Amino acid sequence: MDRIGGDLAGKTALVTGGATGIGRAIATALYKHGVHLVIADIDGEAAQAAAAAISSEVVAITMDVTKRESVEAGFAEAAAALGRIERVVANAGVSTMKPALEITDADWNLNIDVNARGVFLTNQIACRHFVDRNIKGAICNTASLAGKVGAPLLAHYSASKFAVIGWTQALAREMAKHGIRINAVCPGFVRTGMQYREAIWEAELRGMTPQAVLDEYVALTPLGRIEEPEDVAGVVAFLLSDAARFMTGQSVNVTGGVYMT
Ligand SMILES: NC(=O)c1ccc[n+]([C@@H]2O[C@H](COP(=O)([O-])OP(=O)(O)OC[C@H]3O[C@@H](n4cnc5c(N)ncnc54)[C@H](O)[C@@H]3O)[C@@H](O)[C@H]2O)c1
Repeated sequence: MDRIGGDLAGKTALVTGGATGIGRAIATALYKHGVHLVIADIDGEAAQAAAAAISSEVVAITMDVTKRESVEAGFAEAAAALGRIERVVANAGVSTMKPALEITDADWNLNIDVNARGVFLTNQIACRHFVDRNIKGAICNTASLAGKVGAPLLAHYSASKFAVIGWTQALAREMAKHGIRINAVCPGFVRTGMQYREAIWEAELRGMTPQAVLDEYVALTPLGRIEEPEDVAGVVAFLLSDAARFMTGQSVNVTGGVYMT
């Protein structure tokens, strides 16, 4: 039998939020599978640095997933560089942390804009690209454990990630007739810049140390450690590959067992 993900070799992909953290690990994993890549991030300099660290073949572009013109221009630039785009990872995301009664309109708008609207725009423009060119494409969205179960101090973030899961299911049903698959991953407590910021906020809000917060994350994780970005990246590569050819509309937990349904 072929190696899992072996069919990805020679394919083209665009990864949003690929400059750091989980997105960068996904880009690295896809490159190792032989994928021709564009890293798209609002932080263009960080995207350039991440691309250069993976390979001089990787293309970096500046793209803000909250702005339709920026996503359209990003896809046009990526398609000009790679010919066409066959796989898309909508991974860009943000978080802020506050008790629900203190969440401001700005907190709500930022989380919903980047995490929900960003996935909507990236997916819609990707699917138009696929349908117009008769590409049997695949998409993986980065949702979250907080998109499966409400997360205290992250109510607005949770709302944005529940939206990603609902959108993923509905879009998967609509796109199936075109041979296009849309899935999502739901990471748990992943060691990234986002987690670093959240551990400090949570420690402050709950009157504990950031290390005690991280220790709690580990205690909640049956597999007994903090999740690494690479733990997510392998599952994303699988979902984008033919090994997952009969999966669509799924939001797959990658949490070390924190959440099991
Ligand atoms: N770290 C975790 O524990 C965790 C858990 C579950 C889900 N997630 C999700 O994983 C994804 C990646 O998060 P991470 O932990 O790697 O965070 P991160 O902060 O390390 O990386 C996020 C990336 O997204 C980019 N970005 C932010 N706003 C953008 C925009 N408007 N347009 C384009 N790019 C933008 C940032 O510049 C950055 O490179 C996010 O969707 C996040 O919600 C993270």
